[in-house]
Amino acid sequence: MDVTAALEARRAVPSFDPSVSITVEEVSRIVDKANLAPSSMNLQPWKILVAHSAEAKETLKAVSYNQAKVTEASAVIVVCGDLQHFRQVEQITADAVAQGVSTEERRSRTIAMAIGAYESDLQKQRDEVFRGGSLWSMAFMLAATEAGWDTAPMGGFEPEKVAEAFGLPESVLPILLIAIGKRNPEVALYPRGYRLPATEIVHVDRW
Ligand SMILES: Cc1cc2nc3c(=O)[nH]c(=O)nc-3n(C[C@H](O)[C@H](O)[C@H](O)COP(=O)(O)O)c2cc1C
Repeated sequence: MDVTAALEARRAVPSFDPSVSITVEEVSRIVDKANLAPSSMNLQPWKILVAHSAEAKETLKAVSYNQAKVTEASAVIVVCGDLQHFRQVEQITADAVAQGVSTEERRSRTIAMAIGAYESDLQKQRDEVFRGGSLWSMAFMLAATEAGWDTAPMGGFEPEKVAEAFGLPESVLPILLIAIGKRNPEVALYPRGYRLPATEIVHVDRW
């Protein structure tokens, strides 16, 4: 499946077939593809919680305005972002040195740059978490589409309640839910919503 085909095939499906299950291994395979998403300084601010059991999905539904898709889906990915993600710079850059694609000197500069940029700037941490988490989410949905799964992104949830119900660390924010499963064939897809064309949204060189 090429990228255009995946972009065209991906829809926010209205209903899932509750009899279909997905293994955690299959979710992880798709997660590893989505991990190819770009992030600032390759700091990968995303963290993933998978609501997989019936109990976990019931718990999630209760803090997601009772959206039926949460329990119908085979699993629901809670895409999260870690405000403290920039501290991963040590681990990530160590790997680059071990592979011979970076040097200790370059690594030290990257570490200083990442810590300097984010450590005392909560707004910047939040911006990066939402930017990175959003790019990861789209990559996940396209990779899931290619693997033959349907998805539905959902912003309709209560972040504080999700954090409390699933024991998220204080620095970890839920960003988006992505239900994954097989579309319920008895519930028709809505016609694709109107998209504003390039001629209406693009400004060239100056607004
Ligand atoms: C950030 C975000 C939040 C969304 N929240 C919900 C939601 O809570 N419930 C829902 O049914 N659909 C939700 N959607 C799905 C959108 O309504 C859907 O993507 C949009 O109508 C376009 O349809 P399409 O994805 O099939 O092209 C959300 C989508 C995004 C990207």
